[in-house]
Amino acid sequence: SHSDLDFIRQQIRTVPDWPSAGVQFRDITPLLSSPKAFRVLIDQFVHRYFDARPTAIAGLDARGFIIGSVLAYELNIGFVPIRKKGKLPFTTVQESYELEYGSATVEIHTDAVGPQDRVVLIDDLIATGGTMLAGLRLLQRLGAEVIEGAAIVDLPELGGSDRIRAAGLPLHTLVSFE
Ligand code: PRP
Ligand code: HPA
Repeated sequence: SHSDLDFIRQQIRTVPDWPSAGVQFRDITPLLSSPKAFRVLIDQFVHRYFDARPTAIAGLDARGFIIGSVLAYELNIGFVPIRKKGKLPFTTVQESYELEYGSATVEIHTDAVGPQDRVVLIDDLIATGGTMLAGLRLLQRLGAEVIEGAAIVDLPELGGSDRIRAAGLPLHTLVSFE
């Protein structure tokens, strides 16, 4: 409900000038440390995806793991980590994307999902959208259907949510900060 989303919004802490001057960092850790807020948060995603019957939740390193794993557990489906490069031990595929300075690479195990899967891809926050779009490409390379991207926070001014939807992925976010 509206009041649940307002409550979630109120539990996100804004840290000025972190990690650098001029950045207003949206910190979700208060949402996790409050048992009430954590439950209201996770229930938002459980209710949204219960009827959609995804076969797996894919979470983006690292904060997507926290909410994605609990969501998968509640839906009685598996959790698949998409990790920053160099962390996964088995055979992987990789996708790189541009950052403001340099680039980043994410990986997934090649047997993590396949053409039989309908996946929800989750992270805590959408900024430029590069991380979620790289995750989408990884899942699609393995033949999975990605039914929706999900995040707690959208920062629409950074253009990521528009880029993700323009790439054809429906995106569901709970709160936005201009
Ligand atoms: C943050 C955030 C998202 C990503 C969003 O993670 O948790 O994963 O950046 O940015 P984008 O939309 O521009 O790609 P970060 O890279 O800081 O890693 P962390 O989760 O390990 O802290
Ligand atoms: N908060 C958390 N993660 C982020 C942010 C932010 O404001 N911007 C880019 N990644």
